[in-house]
Amino acid sequence: MDLGLKGRTAFVTGASRGIGKAIATALAAEGVNLGLFGRDMDRCNGVAAELTAKHPGLRVAVIEMDISDRTAIKPAVDKAIAALGGVDILVNCAGGAYRGRLAEIPDEAWENYFAVKPLGLIRMSRETMPYLKKSTQGRVIHISGTRGREPHGVQVMSGPINLGTLSITKAMANEFGPDGITVNAICPGSTDTGRWTELVSIRAREKGISVEKAEQQLVEDVPMGRVVKPEDVADLTVFLASNRAGMITGCAINVDGGRTRGI
Ligand SMILES: NC(=O)c1ccc[n+]([C@@H]2O[C@H](COP(=O)([O-])OP(=O)(O)OC[C@H]3O[C@@H](n4cnc5c(N)ncnc54)[C@H](OP(=O)(O)O)[C@@H]3O)[C@@H](O)[C@H]2O)c1
Repeated sequence: MDLGLKGRTAFVTGASRGIGKAIATALAAEGVNLGLFGRDMDRCNGVAAELTAKHPGLRVAVIEMDISDRTAIKPAVDKAIAALGGVDILVNCAGGAYRGRLAEIPDEAWENYFAVKPLGLIRMSRETMPYLKKSTQGRVIHISGTRGREPHGVQVMSGPINLGTLSITKAMANEFGPDGITVNAICPGSTDTGRWTELVSIRAREKGISVEKAEQQLVEDVPMGRVVKPEDVADLTVFLASNRAGMITGCAINVDGGRTRGI
């Protein structure tokens, strides 16, 4: 299937590892030039080197940006535009959440994580929007999370962070549809990145069971019988970025193997 992506340009935040790296890798395979935004320059440069070695001719710009720093975002976007000449696709993936129950999470953690997502995501969208409006295939994809729709005690922070992201997705879809820009959210379930290992250990500790048993229990909750892989999220991102998804906007799509109980 021709996805109409070759020669397009995407900005990906959180591209240094995990889901963001998988998304950058999948877009590169479709011939999409990349602006990789991150804090850890060694890791981001490593991703860029991997992708350009695999896809000679691909243009990749590595841009240093702490997305929780409000003053860093506009200069970083300007730098990426200067390096790549424009942008068609914005993937907001930077994020994470402090794992723990309400009483265990310090104020500073709430403030820090909210500054990344949804606030950083909102600022990144705002600064990129004037350039997306110039594209003939403008796409915004927010990586949210199923806990926005199905809150949980031990991941209490993931709820409001991701729910805010869903709300801004719909508002942006309404506002920028007339500019030909689609805006969607992807809600991964527990995904096999460093955060999965952390979740498994918390469950093992809380229930007084082995790590293996905790992992088995978590997977048993997933109708498809396995943990989500970063590549599962990347595949949907590529489709939503493509010219085949031009009438999909304002949606939030789970990639969770069916684990979320609601519809
Ligand atoms: N894994 C899951 O189970 C899961 C489930 C639902 C939703 N999600 C969402 O998916 C996204 C990616 O998660 P992941 O599992 O791939 O996480 P991860 O492996 O922990 O990677 C997080 C990414 O976000 C970046 N980041 C964090 N804070 C940042 C900041 N202040 N400035 C710039 N970059 C920052 C990190 O960059 P550094 O390398 O600089 O730290 C890293 O690239 C997140 O938004 C997360 O909420 C994940």
